[in-house]
Amino acid sequence: MKVLVTGGCGYIGSHTVVELLQEDYEVVIIDNLSNSLKEVLTSIETITKKKPIFYEGDVVDFSLLRKVFSEHSFDAVIHFAGYKAVGESVQKPLMYYRNNLESTLHLCEVMKEFGCKRLVFSSSATVYGSPKKLPITEEMPLSTTNPYGTTKLMIENILRDLSSSDNEWSIALLRYFNPIGAHSSGLIGENPKGIPNNLMPYIIKVAMGELPQLDIFGNDYNTKDGTGVRDYIHVVDLAQGHIAALNKVINSTGIDACNLGTGKGYSVLELVQTFEKVNHIKIPYQIAPRRAGDVAECYADCSYAKKQLDWSSKKDLETMCRDAYHYISVLKKSTDI
Ligand code: WQD
Repeated sequence: MKVLVTGGCGYIGSHTVVELLQEDYEVVIIDNLSNSLKEVLTSIETITKKKPIFYEGDVVDFSLLRKVFSEHSFDAVIHFAGYKAVGESVQKPLMYYRNNLESTLHLCEVMKEFGCKRLVFSSSATVYGSPKKLPITEEMPLSTTNPYGTTKLMIENILRDLSSSDNEWSIALLRYFNPIGAHSSGLIGENPKGIPNNLMPYIIKVAMGELPQLDIFGNDYNTKDGTGVRDYIHVVDLAQGHIAALNKVINSTGIDACNLGTGKGYSVLELVQTFEKVNHIKIPYQIAPRRAGDVAECYADCSYAKKQLDWSSKKDLETMCRDAYHYISVLKKSTDI
């Protein structure tokens, strides 16, 4: 089986490519390297002893898409490519709408042209907005609080209309909660450029001494210890969820949305304390004002993914914290040489 992975050099994309190759799928990647490094391909090859075929470029580029689809016959596509920083999307909405929507529209048009109608789409828990009830199930109301989340919801609606127009399409909408951690080899992981928006990459920068302390955005929420609660999921569990969804779309038609989380909510303080415990390191922090747009608590009901995909997460928070730090330690050693 041959799969096209757009954004396959990115954090979640690269972990999914590793799982695909280890399941003996042939993998072709399109990535413009706007938020990833080409060196990831070498790490993927070191881990799997297999080399994915790589095309550098933009998914929005019709000529590139048609070239790739004319050179390969794909059984399915996993679509990760897209901008994903919530804060940046508020500052640059047009860039987010143009990039995320156009790339998906062009991809689907070329998939249709070449008769490939099986798609796994990288959606997000942000389509639930501020949840009224917890844990979150797939039937809950959808609303968004930022342009990034709105692009994800708009694409879900576009794909639903596409599925209604042609029952040959088979589409899985995967709603990620908070992916963290790294492959146990320490060769691939998350290392965003600049000051990280997300909690774990920020903790890592503090652990590495690149940032002085963590600001905890508010400790006066109505949660177990006043700090924000999220459903953190190991990125390898998430990647394996894509393999399960791929099997589903290859053997069925129609469209379905699934939550990919652990079903457990952990607070910021719990994450910090777990990280300190497993890595034997102190993370200095101070309580700072709440961050605009944050919700108090957000975690998934994952029973539908278990039923539909026969998938559930396996790795615990300690493993997520250990693997996240291991990746950066390996990276630092390799760059310090
Ligand atoms: C987690 C918690 C913060 C940073 C976002 C996107 C979502 C998904 C994951 C793509 C919150 C607190 C954070 C910091 C802190 N991305 N925090 N200090 O906001 O739940 O979700 O990333 O799909 O779409 O919305 O993740 O890691 O930014 O925040 O106290 O320096 O950590 O307030 O409670 P979030 P996050």
